[in-house]
Amino acid sequence: MSITPDGLAVESAVVTTFTWDYTSKDPKLRALYEKGKAAQWNAATDIDWSPELHFGAPLPEVDDVTGLSSRRPPNCPVPPELWNAYRWEYHSWMTSQFLHGEQGALLATSRLVETVPDLDDKLYAASQVTDEARHVEAFSRYVQRLGSSYPINPALRTLLGNVVSERRWDIIYLGMQIIVEGLALAVFRLGHATTFDPVIRQITDLVARDEARHVAFGVLALEGLQDQLTSRERAEREEFIKEASLLMSRRFRMEEVWQRMDLDVAAGVEYVLTDSAMRDFRRLMFAKIFSNLTRLGLVSDELRAHFQELALLRPGQVRAWRR
Ligand SMILES: [Fe+2]
Ligand SMILES: [Fe+2]
Repeated sequence: MSITPDGLAVESAVVTTFTWDYTSKDPKLRALYEKGKAAQWNAATDIDWSPELHFGAPLPEVDDVTGLSSRRPPNCPVPPELWNAYRWEYHSWMTSQFLHGEQGALLATSRLVETVPDLDDKLYAASQVTDEARHVEAFSRYVQRLGSSYPINPALRTLLGNVVSERRWDIIYLGMQIIVEGLALAVFRLGHATTFDPVIRQITDLVARDEARHVAFGVLALEGLQDQLTSRERAEREEFIKEASLLMSRRFRMEEVWQRMDLDVAAGVEYVLTDSAMRDFRRLMFAKIFSNLTRLGLVSDELRAHFQELALLRPGQVRAWRR
């Protein structure tokens, strides 16, 4: 993996598979493919891009679980006079990371088209490639409209690089459909629906519908697969999930925002890690990922302890474990 002047270059050796078996083997997957075809939308014409937006303007009062709230927590290192500016920076940082993540999904899913063995999966993955192109289009247009952007967060960059360099297709599903998209779906549903800007609300509503199908695709594709793995292969998947969850939780330390605002980075990171609202937000985001991993039979006690250590489990999930 090497950073280029305007991107990232990831080398990988993959096995591209053809299949001559054109019969459908998975009716549920085929039904999801049909649903996806019927649910196409157009980022250029189905979103009303006309509302004006002025980056930095005074923001309205909103109560928002994502941290965009107008109420400044007392333990927050952002001084009260910078709170409005911080809300804009946070929004800009978040939407830029959505955009970079969408490009990761576009590339990872096109890798799936090549590498998955069955036709049902190839067809669905190809339809997802179109969805992701639309998401990249919508978010890139939004970021331009905002007039402020952030480079990709280093933890997200590492994770996306790891996913697209994978030759084991089930790990691509795990990294992209279960973890990255599971998290994106939760953020879109939880957070940005309640923000101040009607345009991002429309985008996240439309994108979340697609992401729900993409997560369902991952679960359908991986269901039952862990029973066929050797103990060594299982351990490799567990390692991958541990690393991916660590990187995804690191992503939310927002170092780039603290730096851009000239605030103390260590104090900012400490706030993100210890503030109860921020912690609850992370737990909500990871809740579905964890339940999908559990459904797929991929959660060992060790993995659960890892999630617990990263403070990503909700109290109910911890209680279920201790019972
Ligand atoms: Fe997407
Ligand atoms: Fe997606």
